[in-house]
Amino acid sequence: MKITVTGAGYVGLVTSVCLAELGHQVITTDIQKEKIEMLQNGISPIYEPGLPSLLEKNLGNGRLRFTMDPDLAYSDAEIIFIAVGTPETDNGSIDLKYLYVAAFTIAHHIENDVVICTKSTVPVGTNDIIHQIINSRKPDNILAEVVSNPEFLREGSAVYDFFHGDRIVIGTNNPEAANIMEQLYLPLKIPILKTDLKSAEMIKYASNAFLATKISFINEIASICEKVGANIEEVAYGMGSDKRIGFPFLQAGIGFGGSCLPKDTNALLQLTGCNEQRFELLEAVMKVNRRQHSLPIVKAKELLGPLQNKKAALLGLAYKPDTDDVRESTSLIIAKELLEEGAYVTAYDPVATPNFQKMMGNSISYASDIPSALHGADFAIIATEWDQIKHVPLDVFSTNMKRPIIIDGRNCYSLQEVQKYPITYISVGRPAIDQKGQIIKDGSLF
Ligand code: UGA
Repeated sequence: MKITVTGAGYVGLVTSVCLAELGHQVITTDIQKEKIEMLQNGISPIYEPGLPSLLEKNLGNGRLRFTMDPDLAYSDAEIIFIAVGTPETDNGSIDLKYLYVAAFTIAHHIENDVVICTKSTVPVGTNDIIHQIINSRKPDNILAEVVSNPEFLREGSAVYDFFHGDRIVIGTNNPEAANIMEQLYLPLKIPILKTDLKSAEMIKYASNAFLATKISFINEIASICEKVGANIEEVAYGMGSDKRIGFPFLQAGIGFGGSCLPKDTNALLQLTGCNEQRFELLEAVMKVNRRQHSLPIVKAKELLGPLQNKKAALLGLAYKPDTDDVRESTSLIIAKELLEEGAYVTAYDPVATPNFQKMMGNSISYASDIPSALHGADFAIIATEWDQIKHVPLDVFSTNMKRPIIIDGRNCYSLQEVQKYPITYISVGRPAIDQKGQIIKDGSLF
């Protein structure tokens, strides 16, 4: 099929490359010249495992092209995916300007019957507006149907998820458009759920809000575990063994970040607010998440007193491992709070440092390896569970730091392992360990 993808961000780029890999002719367009030029030269503007090799391969065999020319992009497309950003505004609602601009541009340039498929996450009812925009601007002799095809890819494993997803949701009020989309996805052998436009839009929000709820729930249980001397890892394993609950998203830590879970949960709160209904459960989910973000600072202060002039090592800047994305990363909040407390911060991340530096400038220092980040530090905070970070031998902490204190926000180490080293270790929802290797049952060292 001839496919066009509008937007070369995480979702659009992964979709483009993977559809080309399936054998389709794909043209991807974006308004950012620099991005398109990089991609034309085979350079991925994002860090995503598995993407560079597929990009190179499909550019090479001519199935994948990148352009800024809307005529070339849209004139003979059979399916157009819209995968532009839908950022959050200051009040938590969603800014749809990029989406509407894309819809206007598409309407002005299509010359064949086409299915227009929205991948961007949009509030319920948005695809009806896109349909109206397209219908009011397109040539009369052309049929253009709109489909909502929400995205469930996770950054860091997006290429894998494209080929191994749990389900594909196709939302449209037009059965012919649904069949065209079904044909596109059939080779993936992933269950396809056909539904109406609004239900598809809601499935996306409800899914992300539910995942956020699972995380805040386990973080609340973790907080109780600390008080009563239980271990959240044992508890999560026991809960997850029940098939009705399941293991995924029961990893306690310093909260969820990224461009999706916080934004989509807030957007659902906004939506219910606009419909004169309160979603009190989700309000609590966000409140718990904000509390988790500050946990490392609270624990550091309990342990060290005022943090003024103390040296902190911050390990992990991306909002999760295997990505260079720092949007809504917990590390941004931690770094800002440490600076407000008057601490010095030296940070390390395997790939996300340039993006972090764009947000924080040189208000903190950046190290090129973990021992340098730890050198002379009064305490270390582990914020992202990169393999490179969680496999660091613990003697690297004890030999490089001024005071070997680890505040592990992602429970990277087993308590038995930590006990072998002269390290004070505080994690989330597990008993603390003092420098003599003693387990403090109630989680408090003080
Ligand atoms: C999320 C959804 O998982 C995807 O299905 C969806 O397609 C995507 O949003 C989107 O809407 O585009 P993503 O944000 O890439 O994907 O990453 P997740 O793996 O969901 O992690 C989000 C955050 O939750 C991370 O900060 C992670 O550290 C945190 N998390 C995740 C936990 O704290 N505990 C867990 O058990 C799982």
